[in-house]
Amino acid sequence: MHLSKLVRTAATSSVLAVICVASLDNIAAHAQANPDTAKLPWSNRALSPDERADMVLGQMTLDEKIQMVHGAGWGVLRAGAPIPARSNFGAGFMAGIDRLGVPDINLADSAVGARMAAYQGRYATLLPSTLGAASSWDPDSAFLYGSVIGRELRALGFNMTIGGGVNITREPRNGRNFEYAGEDPILAGTMTGQLEKGVLSQHVMSDIKHYAFNDQETGRTKVNVLLDHKAMRESDLLAFEIAIGIANPSGVMCSYNLVEGSYACENDYLLNQVLKKDFKFKGWVLSDWSATHSTVKSALNGLDQEMPGDDNYFNAPLKKAVEDGKVPMARLDDMVRRILRSMFAAGVVDDPPVRTVVDPFRGRDDAQHIAEESIVLLKNSSGVLPLKASASNSIALIGSHADVGVLSGGGSAQVDAPGGDAANPHPGGAKWGDVVYFPSSPQKNIQAKSPRASVKYIDGTDTAAAANLAKSSTVAIVFVNQPMREDVDAASLSLPNNQDALVEAVAAANPNTIVVLETGGPVSMPWIEHVKGVIEMWYPGIGGAQALANILFGEVNPSGKLPVTFAQDDAQLPHPVVPGLEGVPASAPNREHKVNPFDLNYSEGAKVGYKWFEATNKQPLFPFGFGLSYTTYAYSGLTVDDAQRTVHFTVRNTGQREGTEIAEVYVALPSAAKENYQRLSAWQRVKLAPGESKDVTLTLHPLSLTVFNTETNGWQLLPGDYTVMAGPSSSVTPLKATLHVHP
Ligand code: BGC
Repeated sequence: MHLSKLVRTAATSSVLAVICVASLDNIAAHAQANPDTAKLPWSNRALSPDERADMVLGQMTLDEKIQMVHGAGWGVLRAGAPIPARSNFGAGFMAGIDRLGVPDINLADSAVGARMAAYQGRYATLLPSTLGAASSWDPDSAFLYGSVIGRELRALGFNMTIGGGVNITREPRNGRNFEYAGEDPILAGTMTGQLEKGVLSQHVMSDIKHYAFNDQETGRTKVNVLLDHKAMRESDLLAFEIAIGIANPSGVMCSYNLVEGSYACENDYLLNQVLKKDFKFKGWVLSDWSATHSTVKSALNGLDQEMPGDDNYFNAPLKKAVEDGKVPMARLDDMVRRILRSMFAAGVVDDPPVRTVVDPFRGRDDAQHIAEESIVLLKNSSGVLPLKASASNSIALIGSHADVGVLSGGGSAQVDAPGGDAANPHPGGAKWGDVVYFPSSPQKNIQAKSPRASVKYIDGTDTAAAANLAKSSTVAIVFVNQPMREDVDAASLSLPNNQDALVEAVAAANPNTIVVLETGGPVSMPWIEHVKGVIEMWYPGIGGAQALANILFGEVNPSGKLPVTFAQDDAQLPHPVVPGLEGVPASAPNREHKVNPFDLNYSEGAKVGYKWFEATNKQPLFPFGFGLSYTTYAYSGLTVDDAQRTVHFTVRNTGQREGTEIAEVYVALPSAAKENYQRLSAWQRVKLAPGESKDVTLTLHPLSLTVFNTETNGWQLLPGDYTVMAGPSSSVTPLKATLHVHP
């Protein structure tokens, strides 16, 4: 199904003709939709979104209500599918109700930037991957990220994003981890919530997805996830709870998979009980594309809108079910009210998008700023970094098209590269599954930092030639990549295409070898002892090469820290083989889709990522929260305020350079919690001049202190002694103190 999706970067003449007709139609439709909208009683901005929604709802016919609870079809995503007349050529479209001044909803995939801009011959900024951006641990940066997306969607004529992925990294080989925000529910939920708040700040409707437990792509439409409710609430669902609590998103997209035997989009527990009742989510639930499987069951169990809308569950069959009394009118009203109130709340009625030209310069600067906070320095032996600008330097750049560009993530998160793929021509435009490089050239930017040095590039396909170049250079930088995308998981944590052998060969030829990783998520590094420097730059976005060059030459001091654990190898993971692929050779084509329906028992429970490593006493390659700087920091003086549940400590810059340290606080619950792992509780980015000290006061996140009690269906704060730890990473917490919680 998804392989048939088209991602066009070049329009054929027939497509152009459709665009012209439909665009004119679109413009006319906006102008004529309702000339008197200002006179409609619900145009009064002094009323609340709920009041305004109720007023519109009171005027609607059954057919109009039905029109709003399903999209108008696959449109541009599927070759040959009709394109709805007023659609803005995004992933989804819901036709508005002109006579009532209810606007169309034009939904755009935009996990890491607006998708399909090229379809309209337009530009959109590629931001760093959201996993990369989560490495900044900077909620302001996440807000900026979302505001770039919102700003550009508005300019492109869209009024809703369908980004906002917050599935935690339960499966480090998941093809979509780059669209998410890491393994810790509090960090991921905070960053994604702030991101979607940023989208909303631009009067564009927001989204959180894929709800829930869509933690791997293998068998994603067939896998039935099993996990006890306590563990659910303390892991994956906690990330959603936090993100939804921060952003109050317009939509939540339910996922393809099943949970406890029911599809996520017709799952009473997930949708009615948890999302709507417990999380008090006020927006609407839209299905992932073709993830709706029923009419009555879905309607009663909490789905509000079928997308993309041509599977025929929420159009005529829903109308009939309402007429037959199988779905109460009140439930249909609830679906529509949720959509209407989200439109009013986001401001898309009062302040609809206005087509302008996206500002590529501002977007690139924002992307570079986020990338500079996202890049993580993982290893720096004998001060190999930062590099010095010097005429006597010769720098070998090896692999991953470092002469021309940086890697981007694929699938529905793919942004169109300006000028097309910088590395490979894709006749007719890049398609689903193509690997796309963006024109941000590491070679040019490295050369610019050291104009008189010799900077040479070799593609790395010939290992011996790469080793030769490395041998004759003072420094060798090997760029390695892991292309990832929706609907395929990585076969293993190993880098693909023999890149480990390339690194080994270069490292053997040059003692000053630095590896730059462009990966979707964690990878293994069997060569780690043989190289001097390692930098994780993720998929760094359109300002990626500039950000990297600034870090390599020390103009920016690295500050990012890992939002995921890097295991040594697959054997350390809770599921050493990607579930569903046991016994299937890694080389088997399309293997993710061929698996039969299967149960996936997440027996590790809430022990995801660092919690798993701690509970099972395993040493990862790099722990959660780890990242180096060109300066050093010291921590001292931890005190805890029992009443306020705040912690206080001092961080000092003990080195020679200004830097920003992400100070991390973890808690271990009292023994009654029966947990053999710590939890991230609070953090702060602390900017420090050389020698400077700052006092940091942080509030422990309330949900880091509680356990979920399934009997009372609520969070419970256990009385007892909580160990509070502060330090630079999950594995190094030199400060310890006790928080006393009295019964
Ligand atoms: C993906 C969603 C995406 C939708 C529309 C689905 O295949 O899972 O994340 O928003 O397609 O493109």
